[in-house]
Amino acid sequence: MNTRVFSGIQPTGVLHIGNYLGAIKTWVALLDDHECIFCIVDQHAITVPYEPAGMQARIFDAAVGYLACGVDPARCAIFVQSDVPEHTELAWYFNTVTPVAYLERMTQYKDKSAQFHEQINMGLLGYPVLQAADILLYKAGIVPVGEDQSQHLELTRDVARKFNRLYGETFPEPRTLVGTAPRVAGLDGAAKMSKTLDNYIAINETPEEIWKKLSTAVTDPARKRRTDPGTPEACNIFSLHAFFSTPAQRARVAEGCRTAGIGCLECKRLLAENIARELAPIRERYEALRNDPAAVRRVLDEGAERCRTIARETMRDVKGRMGLLR
Ligand code: TYM
Repeated sequence: MNTRVFSGIQPTGVLHIGNYLGAIKTWVALLDDHECIFCIVDQHAITVPYEPAGMQARIFDAAVGYLACGVDPARCAIFVQSDVPEHTELAWYFNTVTPVAYLERMTQYKDKSAQFHEQINMGLLGYPVLQAADILLYKAGIVPVGEDQSQHLELTRDVARKFNRLYGETFPEPRTLVGTAPRVAGLDGAAKMSKTLDNYIAINETPEEIWKKLSTAVTDPARKRRTDPGTPEACNIFSLHAFFSTPAQRARVAEGCRTAGIGCLECKRLLAENIARELAPIRERYEALRNDPAAVRRVLDEGAERCRTIARETMRDVKGRMGLLR
């Protein structure tokens, strides 16, 4: 067993191919050689306005998504953050060592507070502190994520360093592991793929749904007519081919685009077919698991049990060092 791995996803709806390519595929690749812990971070998801009535369904969907993508519970722990109360407890202790100025600098905080300017709460500002607690509670050394999480991971290392300096060597400084898809573009061509922007393809969409979304997706903006030659490097859709198509297919599409030999629809059709092929087994498992909520619940219960044991041990250590143990 190598260094411990930790990562998490917010339960904000069904998982999309950005989550799958940017994070989950890397998780699955680590399963064999590492002790892995994967979390559904419900306490992060409540820092912006949300609908409480649907929360359990969203958590369930996230769990089903993890399992359907091949996150095998026999080789890792999968659990819900709020099932292990030590996350928020450790976050409080970390609050006392984290400069507010560091948090105010976070890009995600700035974006979210612009978006929800009437509801900027302490939880939104402290979001990265809770994320640091998630990771350091398990003394994880590797955190596989998409590129958008790099800044939060830097803060995690800052928190670990600061805590270690004040209270003695306690936490490792975890490494950010960005895989082969650091930033998957959204279908709008303007931003990264995300649930909030509704520019995504979900992991359980049917070939028809995938085609419907792709057919209207933005391509190279300079290629206005079928007869215009295009620039594949400037095309959103071409960037997605990198994850789903073979090198030969990509070369053919790029050449066809540059010479106006093929149109955007043809290029999209090939991509749609390839995405549908890769997602087919995931969708199948997804549907099967949705019909077995008891099995999914069992995975989450067992995961929380394992994590609580590790979490309690870390908290004893932390409280002892901070002078809080009788
Ligand atoms: P979240 O829920 O926004 O995203 C989950 C994971 O998916 C990756 N991702 C992407 N990767 C590539 N391209 C994209 N378009 C794309 N969209 C999302 C994210 O980088 C992430 O790896 N703060 C985290 C959740 C979190 C966490 C943690 C992560 C809480 N505690 C501890 C790691 C460790 C977040 O909001 O991810």
